Amino acid sequence: MKFELQNVTRRFGRNVAVDTVNIAIPQGQMVGVIGRSGAGKSTMLRMINRLIDPSEGAILFGDTDVSKLKGKALRDWQRDCAMIFQQFNLVPRLDVLTNVLLGRLNHRSTVKSLMNVFTREERIMAIAALERLGIEQTALQKAGTLSGGQQQRVAIARALMQDPKMVLADEPIASLDPLNAKVVMDALRDINEREGITVITNLHTLDTARTYCERIIGMAHGRVVFDGNPRELTAAAVQEIYGSDKDGAGIDETMTSTSINTGKLAGNPGRKPAGIAPLVEAEAATP
Ligand SMILES: Nc1ncnc2c1ncn2[C@@H]1O[C@H](COP(=O)(O)OP(=O)(O)O)[C@@H](O)[C@H]1O
Ligand SMILES: [Mg+2]
Repeated sequence: MKFELQNVTRRFGRNVAVDTVNIAIPQGQMVGVIGRSGAGKSTMLRMINRLIDPSEGAILFGDTDVSKLKGKALRDWQRDCAMIFQQFNLVPRLDVLTNVLLGRLNHRSTVKSLMNVFTREERIMAIAALERLGIEQTALQKAGTLSGGQQQRVAIARALMQDPKMVLADEPIASLDPLNAKVVMDALRDINEREGITVITNLHTLDTARTYCERIIGMAHGRVVFDGNPRELTAAAVQEIYGSDKDGAGIDETMTSTSINTGKLAGNPGRKPAGIAPLVEAEAATP
């Protein structure tokens, strides 16, 4: 099913967060969205999932304009495009298994949901999802006691329970160390390759986008300024996406690197050249 953004714009007051974006994404693509903090990446994902509404434009899935959906149709859409957040958004005081089962809520009637009773089949499905992510041993632990990497895997398991057509991930590895970042990105890739689920992920590091994504969309000031494969992402394209500092120095790719590639683990101490503002600011949690 074809998925398309047509002239999508979102304003906050006079600020244009997303500006006339046009992209078409075929089912099963793994897409990385990169750009500076404030470029509009999160706003774009949130519009797709309808956490916020576009000011203008259409978001089409097949012949349906999802930006117009209401009620049950809207809830069905939000089930179809599962969201993964930088801060995991689990319920910390509930155990891992229950957190994963919460991914089924949109599949059930309100009464059943309110009673919080899950069927045997749903529990088996949840355990299988946890096994797939290698964290079944945490099933009965409170989610809040897990490491960040484990919590993000729980969030992916919960997303799988939604049986989604699309997974939207907003900087899923920005709070993780390199090894956990790799585990999480590998899990997203696996979902993409095995189930053919479209993955659209905002990434704050270029090298991760290059390593994992067949298509990279670069945003600056709300606009798409690059759309192509990693080989097409030249130094000039990187410059256009991230801009350059006032002194005219070029962008050093290591500045946007978390060194997720194990080969680079030892090599990059994560230093930033003095006098150059960080490309990416730590984002506040966005529940
Ligand atoms: N809820 C909001 N209210 C007002 N302004 C917002 C809101 N969300 C985002 N913005 C603004 O929209 C722009 C794009 O933000 P965002 O989509 O979060 O960028 P990114 O995810 O690329 O860092 C920024 O200027 C930001 O301040
Ligand atoms: Mg963001």
